[in-house]
Amino acid sequence: MAKSFQRLNLCLFPFFFLAFSFITKPNEAYPLSTSSRWIVDETGQRVKLACANWPSHLQPVVAEGLSKKPVEEIAEKIVGMGFNCVRLTWPLDLATNFTLAHNVTVRQSFQSLGLNDDIVGFQTHNPSIIDLPLIDAFKTVVEALGNKGVMVVLDNHITKPGWCCSNDDGNGFFGDRFFDPAVWISGLTNMASIFNGVSNVVGMSLRNELRGSRQNTNDWFKYMEQGAEAIHSANPNVLVILSGLSFDADLSFVGARPVNLSFAGKLVFELHWYAFSDGNSWATNNPNDICGRVLNRINKGGGFLLNKGFPLFFSEFGIDERGGNANDNRYFGCFLGWAAENDVDWALWTLTGSYYIRQGVVGMIEYYGALDSDWNDVRNSSFLQRLSLLQSQLQGPGPRTDFYDLIFHPLTGLCVVQSELDPTLLTLGPCKESEPWSYTSKNNLKIQGMPFCIQSTGTQKPVRLGLSCWSPNSKWQTISASKMHLASTTSNKTSSLCLDVDTNSNVVANPCKCLSKDSSCEPMSQWFKIVRATTGLKGSRLCNHVTTPKELLPYNSDLL
Ligand SMILES: *[C@@H]1O[C@H](CO)[C@@H](O)[C@H](O)[C@H]1NC(C)=O
Ligand SMILES: *[C@@H]1O[C@H](CO)[C@@H](O)[C@H](O)[C@H]1NC(C)=O
Ligand SMILES: *[C@@H]1O[C@H](CO)[C@@H](O)[C@H](O)[C@H]1NC(C)=O
Ligand SMILES: *[C@@H]1O[C@H](CO)[C@@H](O)[C@H](O)[C@H]1NC(C)=O
Repeated sequence: MAKSFQRLNLCLFPFFFLAFSFITKPNEAYPLSTSSRWIVDETGQRVKLACANWPSHLQPVVAEGLSKKPVEEIAEKIVGMGFNCVRLTWPLDLATNFTLAHNVTVRQSFQSLGLNDDIVGFQTHNPSIIDLPLIDAFKTVVEALGNKGVMVVLDNHITKPGWCCSNDDGNGFFGDRFFDPAVWISGLTNMASIFNGVSNVVGMSLRNELRGSRQNTNDWFKYMEQGAEAIHSANPNVLVILSGLSFDADLSFVGARPVNLSFAGKLVFELHWYAFSDGNSWATNNPNDICGRVLNRINKGGGFLLNKGFPLFFSEFGIDERGGNANDNRYFGCFLGWAAENDVDWALWTLTGSYYIRQGVVGMIEYYGALDSDWNDVRNSSFLQRLSLLQSQLQGPGPRTDFYDLIFHPLTGLCVVQSELDPTLLTLGPCKESEPWSYTSKNNLKIQGMPFCIQSTGTQKPVRLGLSCWSPNSKWQTISASKMHLASTTSNKTSSLCLDVDTNSNVVANPCKCLSKDSSCEPMSQWFKIVRATTGLKGSRLCNHVTTPKELLPYNSDLL
């Protein structure tokens, strides 16, 4: 039975409505620069990079998928999935070997690899590209993305076209067999020049995942500074993005020694973080314990840069989207909580549904890919839902007074919202429709400007909005090494209950699960993260949909 309830309009300024804008920004605000830890456009507004990696560095040296779908259609799918940007990978040879770039066409490249089915598909879907030289095909992809308002970060992924990366592939560090710093600098210069004036090319990743036995910080500073200067001279509009050591897991050394550049406002760091960066540790440890340990590593390896005033671009992360990999699944909950809380820029690995040829396998399926093998549909819509909060701009530069909190649930990608049927109850819903929560210094979870707090009402029972905010069952502490459990005690303080979600998406309280040690149990239904957002996230509920139980309103009737 539907209860009657009143609607409370919290929109103090009509401009909140105008602030509603999709994350994809119109081109005129380029070029981008940095303002402290934020990437901003020409007007100083934040632009959050929410990218998908689109590989174009494998043997054919052609952006993947073009034998499956027209380039315009792929660009539309990218936008449709909520990405505003592509990290487009390229092999150095494309910018240093004139013959490869200008005198090999897409058709010839496929022919030389025996990819005859792809030639047929390419002819069907992208007839205007198939006979272009490789560099022109690459430019066409960038242009097609620009036409759909998609930003591009050009990523020098490797030197020799092919799958990347291993410690001894000769592409790992300055001085390796295929990694002559002088050749690399000339390639960066060429690429930067080619795209000078192409406004949707907003950044360049200098070199992907430095690694191997030669790696050392002195050479890192020496050559990264040279590379950044070379790019900036050739194209002052792009952000220069620097990757760390050890497969881009380690930027710790930048804390002690600044990167010395002749220009300002363009420097961004990138970091990669996969489950397998920690071997099989996620599957073999307690999820809370390992999450806490790995977050510590991430913060030391680069997370600290945010506090030092640098943007941090998580330019590779991802999981097997079929959902069967326990190592990946546990990692991903922890990653999502951290990435939302810190509101970092990022690029998913990967867009690709399948590769033309990877490591000798023709048509290899990419289960980390956002698209299915035919580049037709989303591979897993629940995976995409989990990314959707990250696709929103949550915070931004400058002093803000319009903060509120979200109660984010990484397992679903949803947030805690009031139930439509009974506004004293809570359920999961789109984060954009969240009430403006406030996680107070007294550990209450309140709706801003209202007196009610989330209270547990007993084990396996729904939590409710109530007025006894002083009561122990209304005080929520973040507990466990992951700090992702929200625990309160029962009103008689006899036991701890954690916020949880039942099979109908009702928010309930249950005994706290697998807080430490036990490696076999899965606490993730109890993982929540309090995420700071500003009204830029807007949300229909925030402005016209905050529903208030009538019986709880006496104190606040002046707000109506
Ligand atoms: C340049 O590319 C062409 C075409 O792929 C190839 O035959 C040649 O060996 C390459 N040159 C170098 C120096 O790698
Ligand atoms: C480019 O290719 C054509 C025909 O494929 C060949 O005749 C020409 O010599 C090549 N040029 C270079 C610079 O490799
Ligand atoms: C920074 O680089 C400039 C130009 O290369 C050089 O003159 C200066 O000494 C460097 N500063 C530091 C602290 O290394
Ligand atoms: C999508 O991911 C979920 C959760 O990991 C999994 O249960 C489901 O089977 C996946 N669906 C597909 C189509 O792979």
